[in-house]
Parts: sequence; C-alpha cells; structure tokens
Amino acid sequence: MPGRNFLFVPGPTNVPDRILRAMHVAMEDHRSPAFPSLTKPLFSDLKKIFKTESGECVIFTGSGTGGWEAALTNTLSPGDKVLSARYGQFSHLWTDMAQRLGLDVQIVDAEWGEAAPADRIADALAGDTAHEIRAVLIVHNETATGVRSDVAAVRKALDANKHPALLFVDGVSSIGAIDFRMDEWKVDCAVTGSQKALMLPPGAGIVCVSPKALAAGDHARLARVFFNFKDQLNQNALGYFPYTPSIPMLYGLRESVAMLLEEGLDTVFARHHRLAEGVRAAIKAWGLELCARAPKSYSDTVSAVMVPPHVKGQDVIQIAYERYNLSLGAGLSKMAGKLFRIGHMGDVNEVMLLGALAGAEMAMHDAGIAVRAGSGVAAAEEYWRQSAAAGRPVAVGAGAKA
Ligand SMILES: Cc1ncc(COP(=O)(O)O)c(C=O)c1O
Repeated sequence: MPGRNFLFVPGPTNVPDRILRAMHVAMEDHRSPAFPSLTKPLFSDLKKIFKTESGECVIFTGSGTGGWEAALTNTLSPGDKVLSARYGQFSHLWTDMAQRLGLDVQIVDAEWGEAAPADRIADALAGDTAHEIRAVLIVHNETATGVRSDVAAVRKALDANKHPALLFVDGVSSIGAIDFRMDEWKVDCAVTGSQKALMLPPGAGIVCVSPKALAAGDHARLARVFFNFKDQLNQNALGYFPYTPSIPMLYGLRESVAMLLEEGLDTVFARHHRLAEGVRAAIKAWGLELCARAPKSYSDTVSAVMVPPHVKGQDVIQIAYERYNLSLGAGLSKMAGKLFRIGHMGDVNEVMLLGALAGAEMAMHDAGIAVRAGSGVAAAEEYWRQSAAAGRPVAVGAGAKA
C-alpha cells in the first residue's frame, strides 16, 4: 500500500527521525575507554525521567516483561507474600508471573476498566498486622483498558498503615508521557520499556530501583542471573555493562531522554493530555464509550473504545489495517472483540491523530457501526483548534500587512 502505515497501537510507537538518526551508528567496542562518555551521562539523565535522585536506573536488553521479572527476583524470596492489584491484562500477567516465580500472591481484583482500588489495598494492608506482605504491585497505566491508577493513593495506603512493604509500579505505558514521581511516591521498583513513551524501538526494559529495594536484594533468594541488579550496577558505576548492551538502543535512549528534557517533562505531560482530550472528544462524538469508567482515571496515552455488541472489535481493526493502512490496538484477553485501542503516546501530533481518527471512523462504518462520517474528526479538530489558540500563539496575518 502506498504511504506509511499509520501506527496507532499503544506500543511500539512512532520513532522520531531524530532518534532513528541517532541510532544509525557504526558498532563500537562497548569496553573501550570512550564508552563511559556515552553511558555515564545517560544513567544520570535517565533518573530525571523517573523523577528520582536516590534511585538507580538499570537498563536491560529485554522488554517490560523482563523488567517485571527483574523487580521481583532481585527483591523477594520463594514463598514471600505479595499483594497484587489486577484490573486488566498487564496487571493480570504481572500477577501470573509472580505466581509462576513461586510467590504467595494475594490478589485484589477490580473490574477491567477500573483503576487500582486504593481503598481495598489499604484494607488488605491494614489486615496484615504481622507485615507478611513484602511487596505491593500495581500497574500505573493499564494499557489494555486505557486506565490510569493513582500511585500516590496506594503510597498513602501503605503509609497510613505504617506498612513496610515495597511498592512496585509498572510504568510501561506511562513513564515519559504521564506524570510519574519515583521519589515523591516512594516507589521501590518502577518498570518501563523502550517502545512506548520513550519513542524507541522495542528492545530495552528499564527498572528504576530505590535504595530500599536494593537493600532487600541482600536477603532475597529468588534466582536471578541475567537480570541481577547488582551485577548491572557494579559495572554501570564504571560506565560499562556486565553483558553486551544494545549499542544503538543506548544512542537512541540518549536522544530520547534529551528530547524529553529539552521539551520539559511538564510540557510533555500537558501535550499528551491535550491530545488525549481531543481523542476523547472524538469518541464522545461517535456516541461510543471508553472502557475506562471514571474520568479521573482516563489514560492520556491510550484510549480503549468499546464497540457496540453487534460488532466485533477485531473486524474494525482488520478493516482499518487492510483497507486503510491504519494499525489500531486489539482488545486483549477478556476484552477481546469488545473494544479497539488508539495509542496516543510519544511522537504524535494533532494531524497524525486526525488521520487515525478518520481511519477509525471509516473502518467502524465499514464494520457496521453507525458513526457519522467526520463526526469524531470534527470534534477533535474543534478541541485542538480551541486549545491551540490558547496555548500556542501563531503570528496569523503578520505577513499580510507587509
Ligand atoms: C502496562 C504494560 N506492562 C507491561 C507490558 C509488557 O511489556 P513488553 O511487551 O515490553 O514485555 C506492556 C506491553 O504492552 C504494557 O503495556
């Protein structure tokens, strides 16, 4: 098909040309005396993305799932009790991993579409007077349902009960796009992956680790080899890695971090919010609902759009791909067939998203959903035009008088 594929899945996301160019490098010796001049500033700048001064960032060749495994195996022992909130496919998979690693998992279930239930997490912690729960697991942004959870509220639940459990947060589809505060929320392991808000190709799992989590590692007996934090950090302190790192990924990450810091994290978050609001205006104009229940937990990086019961979500996705060269995200597991997802994170802008919304409209129409042609596009256009006028002054007509 002519033209570029419109990539609007919630990861992998579009990689900016600036990052692609930065990654296009000749290979080099990763043990050379020059290598630390790439890595040392990168390790320290990366901390700013997690908003941490006390934590350390560990970069693994891998993916978000590897980051989950690193968090669990570096800090816990077989049979340790963990509390896991489950409200979507990714929180389900992390829970399942904890069980498969031999941890004793107490699950707090919530409906898919709801956020991590901080009140019920607080109740579970209050009931654990012997402090047997060693870690609490939550997913900041459930990519499967487009739901953002309140990490600060979960921190509050721990503090209110004076509970010493570690707090582990999956920030795979939030960090770098939605405000995340490692130190302020006293997060002990924060996990992300390269292919989402960091705008990189897949291939890196990054875990930011608190001093408390590192100390827990001294007594943790789960087996870890490739994912050993201390092996990594000992070498990282010298500017190196214990194993061969993905060299292009490190150059790409340096560029990604530079781009985010040049723009300013708060501006990046505001940009994502504004784009997400436009997408939500489109969905409303279509007369469709988000999977996310409460407006306060709407995700600014992905919108999961419920389709009417007479239509299969995968038909919309297949038509979008085959007829219109548009990639939309599928409904996963319990949500298979019930929704499709529009990713709006990383390197996207209004006009790109208008293309995605137009393609989604056409595909929905073809799949038998009665959406009015142009209705979502018009609503998003209007929202973005109005909000651009407020935020981004343009010297309209400046040349006309001359
Ligand atoms: C919230 C969340 N956590 C974890 C993962 C798993 O990450 P990966 O596919 O990079 O292993 C994903 C992937 O989409 C995700 O969205």
